[in-house]
Amino acid sequence: MGLKVAVASDHAGFPLKAEVIDWVRELGHEVMDLGTDSPAPCDYPDFAQAAAELTAKGAVDRAIVLCGSGLGAAIAANKVPGARAGSCADTYSAAQGVEHDDMNVFCLGARVVGVEVARQLVAAFLGAQFTGEERHVRRLGKVKAIERLYSKVGE
Ligand code: RB5
Repeated sequence: MGLKVAVASDHAGFPLKAEVIDWVRELGHEVMDLGTDSPAPCDYPDFAQAAAELTAKGAVDRAIVLCGSGLGAAIAANKVPGARAGSCADTYSAAQGVEHDDMNVFCLGARVVGVEVARQLVAAFLGAQFTGEERHVRRLGKVKAIERLYSKVGE
């Protein structure tokens, strides 16, 4: 069964966003397009936050956020409890981040990778599943403990 995938970008990611949406659909997944909808300058934290929140609350299964480097989006998304965002330019990491670390937000550097590499990264991220192996569950539990320690919202 396909995943629900939020796709968001700032202006630097915008030139690649339509293609990312097409690839996600071609892979059999459902897309929620969170913008931006033009090349006009905007702020990546707004889009990373929206995508991370939907992922953390389970409204979508995963998110892909595009910015120039992938890094600003990852930094912002990781501030949302429950989001586990990463950015890379190799397919090994794009898959292993899910398999070992349960990465649920993939941040793509639209100014870093070419179109074909981006397509393969999206496929690697969406094609991977968390293994659920004991050592990975244990480590993920430690990550979540850090998150709880520093999460003050609602207290
Ligand atoms: C926008 O110019 C750029 O700073 C942004 O897309 C991103 O690369 C930040 O990490």
